[in-house]
Amino acid sequence: MSATPKATARLTAPAIQARKGGEPLVVLTAYTAPIARLLDAHCDILLVGDSLGMVVYGMETTLGVTLEMMALHAKAVATHSSHAMVVVDMPFGSFEASPEEAFKNAAYLLAESGAQAVKLEGGEYMADTIAFLTARGIPVMGHIGLTPTHVHKMGGFKAQARDAGGRAQLLADALAVDAAGAFSIVLEGVFADSVGDVVNRTSAPIIGIGATAECDGQVLVTDDMLGLTERAPRFAKDYAGLSAIIQQAAEQFAQDVKGRRFPTEGNLFGLKAASKA
Ligand code: KIV
Repeated sequence: MSATPKATARLTAPAIQARKGGEPLVVLTAYTAPIARLLDAHCDILLVGDSLGMVVYGMETTLGVTLEMMALHAKAVATHSSHAMVVVDMPFGSFEASPEEAFKNAAYLLAESGAQAVKLEGGEYMADTIAFLTARGIPVMGHIGLTPTHVHKMGGFKAQARDAGGRAQLLADALAVDAAGAFSIVLEGVFADSVGDVVNRTSAPIIGIGATAECDGQVLVTDDMLGLTERAPRFAKDYAGLSAIIQQAAEQFAQDVKGRRFPTEGNLFGLKAASKA
């Protein structure tokens, strides 16, 4: 078993940007204090993704996530981490209407939470907004390819760039977001043969999820990575099998309660053997 990496000073947007073409970036989602504490030393970026709407709150899509939800979860993650850069997603409806509104809401998220950057979905059509935010001091992570807030337009959570036209649009999106100054770009759910061009022709690190290992880093939803998701997407990998472990623990607890084997002396107050009073 490898030793836990030592926590160092928190990573910054320029430090992440400098990793283009170097050691791949490690990114996981985090929505809560305990998960942030456990993942921090192992990750370059902790992403407070709007996926929390589906993962934590059981929503069908991410469309119902609010700014206030994002701010609260991001605050927990930023407060309980010290090494990884914390990036908070801008939820649906908080950034699309105008660069000015995006700035106001991004500033609110960073000020409320203590996160260091925002992420927003969209390609060419969001480039002006990304440039507007970065020029005003807010580092932006882009997100192209399968963009979950477009689920209704896409007709489902469907892989993108499946033909020549799709590949050309994906590359145009990547180049526009890159030129607008994004410090990194998530590339989600795309056909494998579209990835190389995007990675090779951009200056921002490309962070894949459902993209190939050519990317400059990889991100997973932590609940998928831990095996907690009922129906994880094809591109996820279960590293822990936690669903079975949690079910076993709950079953063991239930048996102990029903058999009056819990609590025991060590869990109680006011008994001689228990010194925890
Ligand atoms: O919301 C999220 O967690 C994300 C990742 C899947 C990249 O956008």
